[in-house]
Amino acid sequence: MKRAVITGASSGIGQAFAERLANDGYDVVLVARRRERLEALASVLRDTCGVAIDVLPADLTNSSDLKAVEQKIHEDSSIELLVNNAGFGKIGAYGDLDLDIEDEEIRLNILALMRLTHAAIHGMVVRQRGAIINVSSIVALLPVPFLATYSASKAYVKSFTEAIHEELKGTGVKVQALCPSRTRTEFHEQAGIDTTNQLSSWMDPKLVVDESLCALQKDKVICVPGAINRVNALIMSLLPRALLRSAAAHRMRKLRAQIA
Ligand SMILES: NC(=O)c1ccc[n+]([C@@H]2O[C@H](COP(=O)([O-])OP(=O)(O)OC[C@H]3O[C@@H](n4cnc5c(N)ncnc54)[C@H](OP(=O)(O)O)[C@@H]3O)[C@@H](O)[C@H]2O)c1
Repeated sequence: MKRAVITGASSGIGQAFAERLANDGYDVVLVARRRERLEALASVLRDTCGVAIDVLPADLTNSSDLKAVEQKIHEDSSIELLVNNAGFGKIGAYGDLDLDIEDEEIRLNILALMRLTHAAIHGMVVRQRGAIINVSSIVALLPVPFLATYSASKAYVKSFTEAIHEELKGTGVKVQALCPSRTRTEFHEQAGIDTTNQLSSWMDPKLVVDESLCALQKDKVICVPGAINRVNALIMSLLPRALLRSAAAHRMRKLRAQIA
């Protein structure tokens, strides 16, 4: 029996991971806040894939909910894959944003991911197998004005995962920082970003998941799904940081002007 735990499984990329992994024969534990969404997905996956699906509703910014998920991961030796996917961002000038929401963003995007990785890693190393996918973002590659906390949180995820990848060499345990670019999910609506007339070049979450799992098999520590996105990532790595920052600021100002 192989089991996967997926956070943020109630929509978007997390849901696509759940569907793909259940199809691949994994038993799956679905984690997110919206219990009814998780129950509906679980029922479809049980019927269509014939695997065991557990629903674990949790607000990962809440320390007792987070502890319960940590305990589940720590105690279950059949967990072969953890997908730390839950995350969100809010657009706006940093000084105008609600500090409690920025705080929540750090607790979800960084603290929960860091603690759940810790809960999984020890057992995986002892068993000499297992994998963790930490969902970062293409914005981990540059500071993004008007998404300052979010882009910094995703830079943490990328750096943290790369460091652990080196620590884990020779243990049989893999880690990946998944860095998607624009993907059709509920993320942008939650972030306050208007996507009208923009969605055509965006990726489908299923493709993001396919590329992530393919890269995981090859033990690639960074996965940027989509050929165009990989070219963009390469260009960004070659440009001077100051130029990148001001180009990002220009783009975000335009985006905000469209919303206003
Ligand atoms: N979409 C993109 O263009 C894009 C690009 C790069 C990276 N990403 C990253 O991809 C990941 C998944 O996002 P998505 O695009 O699939 O967006 P999404 O559709 O909004 O999904 C976000 C998921 O996170 C869960 N979540 C939010 N707050 C939570 C909390 N406090 N506790 C537990 N779960 C929580 C949500 O479930 P509940 O509301 O039910 O809790 C939902 O399942 C995120 O880490 C995001 O930063 C997205």
